[in-house]
Amino acid sequence: MTNAIFLRMRTLLITGAGVSAESGIPTFRGKDGYWRNLDPAKLATAKAFADRPKLVWEWYRQRRQWIRQAQPNPAHEAIVRLARHLNEFLLVTQNVDDLHFRAGMPHEKMVQIHGDIFETRCTGCNFVSPGSGGSAGLLGSCMLRGKSGDLNSAAPILQPDLESAEVPTCPECGEFMRPGVVWFGERLDTRQIQRVENFIAHAASDVVIVAGTTAAFGYIIDWAVRARAEKGQLLEVNPDATPLCPFATRLIREPAGVALPRLVDELLPTLRLR
Ligand code: OAD
Repeated sequence: MTNAIFLRMRTLLITGAGVSAESGIPTFRGKDGYWRNLDPAKLATAKAFADRPKLVWEWYRQRRQWIRQAQPNPAHEAIVRLARHLNEFLLVTQNVDDLHFRAGMPHEKMVQIHGDIFETRCTGCNFVSPGSGGSAGLLGSCMLRGKSGDLNSAAPILQPDLESAEVPTCPECGEFMRPGVVWFGERLDTRQIQRVENFIAHAASDVVIVAGTTAAFGYIIDWAVRARAEKGQLLEVNPDATPLCPFATRLIREPAGVALPRLVDELLPTLRLR
C-alpha cells in the first residue's frame, strides 16, 4: 500500500465513444459507427420508442449485452489513475456504458451526461431501476425517484423482471419502461448539468482533456473551453480532427488507449518516484 499523493492540478476530463472503441464497443459517427448504418430517428428518439418500443428495446438490450461482455481498456484505466491522484477532478462522459465505472472510477467523480444504458425507468411515473450507478445493474433492488428527483433509497422494491420482457412495464403504474439514456430531442438531466457547471464555476481547470468524441454537441465544446484556466492546457486525444481542434492547446492524434496512459505518466511525474 502506498499513501495517496494528491496533486494540485484541477482537471476536467471529457470522454466520448472513442474511449470505449478499443474495448470493442462501436462508436456512433466513426468508422463502423452506429449512425453510419442505423437511423437514430428510428432508435434513439421518444417518437421511435412510442412507435416501435419492441424494436428500440431489442437494440438497447443487444447493446447492454455487448457492453457486459466488454472490458475496460488502458484508456479507462489511465483516467482512473489520474483521478486517484487529483483531489480536484471531474470526468464528464457521454458514454452510457459502465466501463469507466468498472475500471474503478468513483461515481462522485463522474457525470454520465447522456445517461446510463443499464438504468431502466418508467415513461409514466418516477419509478427507476438503477443502472451501473445502482451498482448491480438490473440485479439490484429498484428505487423510486421522488418528485424532487432525489433517489429515495428508503423505498426499495422487489426486482421485477425488467430484463427479459420484450417491453418491460412499470411495477408501479403499468406504463412502458425505457432505457435511462438521453435521446435526440430530449433535455439533459438538469442535476447532471449542474454538477458540471458547479465544477467549472468553482475554479478554472489547469488541465482539460477531451478524448474520443466528435464534440458534435455544443455543450461539450462550451464546457471544455470555459473550464480551462487562462494559462491552462486544453488537450484533445482523437485520431481525427473535430470542431474542438481550434480551441485545443495540444492535439494528440492517437487512439486513447495509447495516448492516455502516456499522457497520465507525463502529468503525474511523482508516480515514478513512489
Ligand atoms: P462519436 O461516434 O460521434 O465520435 C467518436 C469519436 O471517437 C470520433 O471523433 C473518432 O475519431 C474518435 N475515436 C475513434 N476511435 C478512437 C480511439 N481509439 N481513441 C480515441 N478516439 C477515437 O461519439 P461521441 O462523440 O461520444 O448520444 O458521440 C456523442 C453522442 O452522440 C453519444 O453519447 C451518443 C451519440 O448519439 C447518446 O447516446 C445520447
